[in-house]
Amino acid sequence: MGRNIVLIGMPGSGKSTIGKRLAERLGMEFCDIDEYIEKKEGRTISDIFKYGEAHFREIEKKAVREVSKMQPLVIATGGGIVLKDCNIRALKENGVIIFIDRNLDDILSDVDVSRRPLLKNGKDQLCSLYEDRIELYKKYCDIQILNDKGIDQVIDDIIEAIG
Ligand code: S3P
Repeated sequence: MGRNIVLIGMPGSGKSTIGKRLAERLGMEFCDIDEYIEKKEGRTISDIFKYGEAHFREIEKKAVREVSKMQPLVIATGGGIVLKDCNIRALKENGVIIFIDRNLDDILSDVDVSRRPLLKNGKDQLCSLYEDRIELYKKYCDIQILNDKGIDQVIDDIIEAIG
């Protein structure tokens, strides 16, 4: 069975949009881990966050373990997936990890902070998350793809890179 293709990166980097289109191009199933969590829990990510970030991270960890075993999928992860190295280990077991690298100014110009509980304090918070996480995304990925062009080009770049 083929490997999973796992997209990591900041909120607003384009993981879900790119993941959906990439899956279509490759004739693969697509799974967004946040959507998987919402469906399974029957509540929104924002509702889960009301019980604290640690609570969300435990649910997320379990979802990662489950989704990692369903292959082959294109998987869009939540931006905080890199905060637990067990998530990365599970995803790497049968997946290639692709960091969707988008520069902070572009993210800031179109991210919808109102739908993201961790960003409820606005864009300053996004900058600080970026600083905390950028090295983790780089360290954990197998392939880094710059999202500074049209989506079709980004998808072509990914397909070429995974060979
Ligand atoms: C989070 C990002 C969100 C979601 C949750 C936490 C984060 O996903 O998993 O709100 O810690 O960066 P997106 O990256 O799809 O926004």
